[in-house]
Amino acid sequence: MKRRGTGTIAVEDVGSRVRLQAWVRRRRDLGGLIFLQLRDNSGVVQVVVRPDEQPEVAESLDAVRLEWVVDVEGVVERRSPENINPEMETGEVEVILDRAEVLSRSDPLPFAVEGEVDATEETRLRYRFLDLRRSELQSNLRLRHRVTMEILKHFDERGFVNVETPILTRSTPEGARDYLVPSRVHHGSLYALPQSPQLFKQILMVAGLDRYVQIARCFRDEDLRADRQPEFTQVDVEISFPTEDDIFELIESLFARIFPIVGIDPEVPFPRLTHEEAIRRFGTDRPDLRFEMEIGDLTDLLAESDFRAFRKAAEDGGVIRGINLPSAAKSSRRQIDEWAQVARAHGAAGVLTLKRIEGELEFQVKGVLSREELRTVADRLHMADGDLALLVAGPGGVASAALGSVRLKAAHQLDLIPADRHAFVWVTEFPLLEWDEGSQRWSACHHPFTTPDPRDLDRLETDPGSVRARAYDVVMNGIELGGGSIRIHDADLQQRAFAALGIGAEEARSRFGFLLDALRFGAPPHGGVALGLDRIVMVMAGASSIRDVIAFPKTTSATCLMTAAPSPVDEAQLSELGIALTDTGHPEDEGEVGKDLES
Ligand code: AMO
Repeated sequence: MKRRGTGTIAVEDVGSRVRLQAWVRRRRDLGGLIFLQLRDNSGVVQVVVRPDEQPEVAESLDAVRLEWVVDVEGVVERRSPENINPEMETGEVEVILDRAEVLSRSDPLPFAVEGEVDATEETRLRYRFLDLRRSELQSNLRLRHRVTMEILKHFDERGFVNVETPILTRSTPEGARDYLVPSRVHHGSLYALPQSPQLFKQILMVAGLDRYVQIARCFRDEDLRADRQPEFTQVDVEISFPTEDDIFELIESLFARIFPIVGIDPEVPFPRLTHEEAIRRFGTDRPDLRFEMEIGDLTDLLAESDFRAFRKAAEDGGVIRGINLPSAAKSSRRQIDEWAQVARAHGAAGVLTLKRIEGELEFQVKGVLSREELRTVADRLHMADGDLALLVAGPGGVASAALGSVRLKAAHQLDLIPADRHAFVWVTEFPLLEWDEGSQRWSACHHPFTTPDPRDLDRLETDPGSVRARAYDVVMNGIELGGGSIRIHDADLQQRAFAALGIGAEEARSRFGFLLDALRFGAPPHGGVALGLDRIVMVMAGASSIRDVIAFPKTTSATCLMTAAPSPVDEAQLSELGIALTDTGHPEDEGEVGKDLES
């Protein structure tokens, strides 16, 4: 007899015989009757054993405990009205068993696979096969599947070709460390796992493929957080002869197609902010626009005030900026200290408060600012009665970053983020380069293949820090969902860009010779974008970590607790690879694993 899904049994089946093969999710023995709830991926149904009528069935199921797998048959009956369970999809029926067989037993469970989570994340990851039985994780994986299918359909309908690019490859610089794979055949040479398929997709454009898409696995050895895994998945896209608008439209229409799956309706086109504007107004290149609370610049109002700290900041080329926290004037000293601490963690020397209480403006340092100055500041920050403004003076970048972090923290604490609001935005015109204090040289903000803005190109050698890039990110609710750029398609310009990064001609040839060659053979203008699939599914699922939308994720110290990867390997295997280990310590693994899971 053919198996039926437990969740499919319905009133129409009353009187029919069914066969179920499923897990036991609950067992109850009551007045001589045994009630089991059986679960498979279609849902749950109750089955009943009447030991008086079916002693053999009762005997077969006697030892059955939670998560055992059984194969049973019986007749569907309508439950009596008092036994109907409105909480269950199948709550109007039950199956009276006349045959039962145990297919598989289960050890006692380390944690419950339904309801409240009653185990540490460490235990859950170690027994991932059990944790994945939880309905939340099951539905996250199903959502991920649907989203992936919809994405591929979207690109297929628009003439994109899905191409697989190599996993064993050379380093692709995306700003993280590489995962390396030694070669048995070429001792001393190593493959790198791709940080992204960046160069291959560009080469596909040179090859004339025109429109490429791939659901691509990427590998980055970097510090991990709730939205970062060492291996993750990109929706990787490249097109020939693009404008930024083409790429924005492609992604906006994709989001307008997938987000409604979970009831989110993005309004397209998305607003756009230049990088400079995003930093100035929101203190970050991934602004959360679900709420306002803009940072205000007060430099012109306070540079010549009698307050030394403000005058000095302005004289040193810095700024005075502030942010208004609505209805926060009565916040406790402790609360205000906490915000000041956040600002200091981002480099601010300190934070000064301005309160508006019953029409009166109170600046933290008495007597240094005139009434008129306070009034203009309060107006600029749109302060209403009962509001609290926090002011920071210092270098522009520091003041913005500090207030940007306070903005986010305070918005959460003051409950200013509407739960049903979602805000998408493109951040454009990123700087091409950023100064890296550690290595004392310029590094690429996006990657070295990004086109400098033609308006700034003449400053590439003389003032590299001021050159903007044709690069953009798509941000939702303060989370960077994707990023891309228009690429350099001219070999000479690519050489210039490498030179600006301190990559000499020889190094460029040895690392990227294939790209430079390709750019010399009729490379079309091209550009693209890569979206973080894990992050997209995470926000769609309302999850707080991408671990919840990845079947087999790693901890924040990049270990898999289920398989215990990474693991030592045989001496023989190492010697075949020509590898001798000098240090087998695991600096990252000190302390308990639970610590890895924070964030
Ligand atoms: P980028 O490095 O910005 O661009 O990556 C694109 C998107 O990938 C996601 N992402 C991650 N998700 C999870 N874990 C990680 N460790 C991780 N790192 C990145 C983010 C990010 O926005 N080759 C370029 C794209 C291009 O220029 O077309 C690239 O990889 O959502």
